[in-house]
Amino acid sequence: MEAEREPLREESYDHQFKLLESELLGVTERAAIAAARLMGYGDRNECDRVAVEAMRQELERLELRGTVVIGEGERDEAPMLYIGERVGRPDADLEVAIAVDPLEGTNLCAHGRPGAISVLAVSVPGGLISAPDIYMEKIMVGSRAADAIDMNLSVAENLHRVAEAMDREVSEIVLVCLDRPRHRELVEEARRTGVRIKLIPDGDLSAAVSVAFAGTGDHIVMGIGGAPEGVLSAAALKCMGGRILARFRPRNEGERERLVQMGADPDRIYDTEDLAPGDRLLFVASGVTDGDLLPGVKFFEHGSRVSSLVMNYGARTIRLVSSILLKQRKDIHIWR
Ligand code: FBP
Repeated sequence: MEAEREPLREESYDHQFKLLESELLGVTERAAIAAARLMGYGDRNECDRVAVEAMRQELERLELRGTVVIGEGERDEAPMLYIGERVGRPDADLEVAIAVDPLEGTNLCAHGRPGAISVLAVSVPGGLISAPDIYMEKIMVGSRAADAIDMNLSVAENLHRVAEAMDREVSEIVLVCLDRPRHRELVEEARRTGVRIKLIPDGDLSAAVSVAFAGTGDHIVMGIGGAPEGVLSAAALKCMGGRILARFRPRNEGERERLVQMGADPDRIYDTEDLAPGDRLLFVASGVTDGDLLPGVKFFEHGSRVSSLVMNYGARTIRLVSSILLKQRKDIHIWR
């Protein structure tokens, strides 16, 4: 039986989370590199598999006791990084909840299209909710429009309120939406308002981070995407002062039951704090293919360059990091 442990002191937690930033950066960087090598080979499952394997390998090295709360699926369908899997070292003092998406945009990577990223978030136990890989309806905005959104209002009303909060006409904001037949009505209603619309092939998690950055030209994300991406979006938006409102959208009784088993409420509207309640929270993403948010991995003779975003909610830091990972020490040519 595992002995009762002394809980970490508050200051110690803050310190450990600061140290974790660079460790976690190494994790998404390695996963991004692994996936990027297979860019354009058309095999999305293989892209995902190598990213998962690299991420898992790196997580195993870390001095923490982690439980995967958002992962590659259920234990019987995912050999690694499944929900409930323990990673790290069983004797480590630091206990954390981990949400992973080793490759967000598997198709984007497989076809060499923009916007694939490798992502993870870490919080204290209970700091990120656990959700199965089902659909979730979401509205996501940056901090200026955080108080403007309301899931009980129509698409048009939400767009007008977001525009107003941002001191613009509705025709001057951009709605990002996954290009899916299920969004036909949403898009038709949005078009009637005059809003500009970006229909993306994949990657509503990148879009969530994008709306939280001023100057990206993206202002609101709406529509139905993955629930795991929803929880990770909540982690990112919390670090950036943005907001997500979300509702699980089970497609059948089985998904509904699974959701309830995991302690979630299929009828509830979840806010950012409900999805990512942890007061200590890290979000890390590395670019795989070139995207609006992050440049993709570049390989050169002597190594590779990876661009990442590292956010620490407790420390209130948002870092944009460009790493050069060298294969050797001598005779190297590095461009700025
Ligand atoms: P994958 O990386 O798992 O392929 O997910 C990409 C994605 O586009 C997500 O960004 C989004 O939340 C989800 O898939 C939407 O699901 P679907 O492709 O079934 O509409």
